[in-house]
Amino acid sequence: MALRTDLTGMFGIEHPIVLAPMGGVAGGVLAAAVSEAGGLGLIGAGGGDREWLDRECGLAADGTGKPWGIGLLLWAIDMDIVLSVIERRPQAIMLSFGDPAPYAAAIRDAGIRLLVQVTDMDEAARALDVGADVVIAQGSEAGGHCGHRATLPFVPSVVDLAASTPVLAAGGIADGRGLAAALTLGAAGALIGTRFEATHEALISAAEAKAIVAAHASDTECNRALDIARGSAWPAEYPARTLRNPFLDRWHGREAELASDPVALQEYRDAAERDDLDYVPVWAGEAVDLITDLESAADLVGRIGRDAEKAILDAAKRCVAATK
Ligand SMILES: Cc1cc2nc3c(=O)[nH]c(=O)nc-3n(C[C@H](O)[C@H](O)[C@H](O)COP(=O)(O)O)c2cc1C
Repeated sequence: MALRTDLTGMFGIEHPIVLAPMGGVAGGVLAAAVSEAGGLGLIGAGGGDREWLDRECGLAADGTGKPWGIGLLLWAIDMDIVLSVIERRPQAIMLSFGDPAPYAAAIRDAGIRLLVQVTDMDEAARALDVGADVVIAQGSEAGGHCGHRATLPFVPSVVDLAASTPVLAAGGIADGRGLAAALTLGAAGALIGTRFEATHEALISAAEAKAIVAAHASDTECNRALDIARGSAWPAEYPARTLRNPFLDRWHGREAELASDPVALQEYRDAAERDDLDYVPVWAGEAVDLITDLESAADLVGRIGRDAEKAILDAAKRCVAATK
């Protein structure tokens, strides 16, 4: 048996697994590895830095002849950036965290599939209004920036709203059981970030990888404090889930105080210069509970796909047996 969904049909891929476009972490090598293994790899281009795009898109194109895509942060881009991304001819462009309306037509008119990640029902309705080909319902278990909805009730609500438009589940999915659950909720696949962070191909330091492997979900915290310390322009409605660290423990819940404390902000900047993980964010979601080692992206895609098939069959057998 193979898992066939509207997503696998749309892109001609083998597994309903999409690599989240993790800014600065999901580069061309990781995206190509995921695509080569039968998923859909998305490069995390954040605000669309051209040098990053030149290098990472080149690596993706060199690494695979299969479909791959690029993810952008809506609050950080303009039309010039979108047009420069379209010129690179990815098969998919994913837009997150803001209003996709100004860019949707340009992407779709270029014949590129438009994926829109949403964090609440208003955003989901907006994504459908602008003609998204795929809507990604992201729960706040996710690593990195997120909204305030939990994956389990949010995904089927978006599935109901989206009708024939395929929906992907994101947030807290790291193995075949999670993918199977997403499919059972009516999703056409899963968009996975944190689990792919702990792969050999991800662009993270050895210290960050070690911290993710060692961490438990209870070591993660949804916060604004680290964005404030970084002086980041992220909109306040999107906090970020990161691993806890001593600086965050000190300032979580005291964000206004932190914002107006020049000594603390300078202390943070000094620590960031030396990449000190007692201060800087390691973006990671509750799925860290399910991560016990670094894997290659190819092994991971294959294993999650196979385990999801098995989880679906096992659940059907168990439940049918239970009713006999
Ligand atoms: C390290 C990291 C960086 C991320 N950067 C982005 C980003 O630049 N753009 C984006 O749309 N989502 C980003 N996300 C969120 C993902 O798109 C996705 O929603 C999330 O990873 C799914 O939850 P999971 O981490 O539990 O798999 C990031 C997530 C992580 C872990």
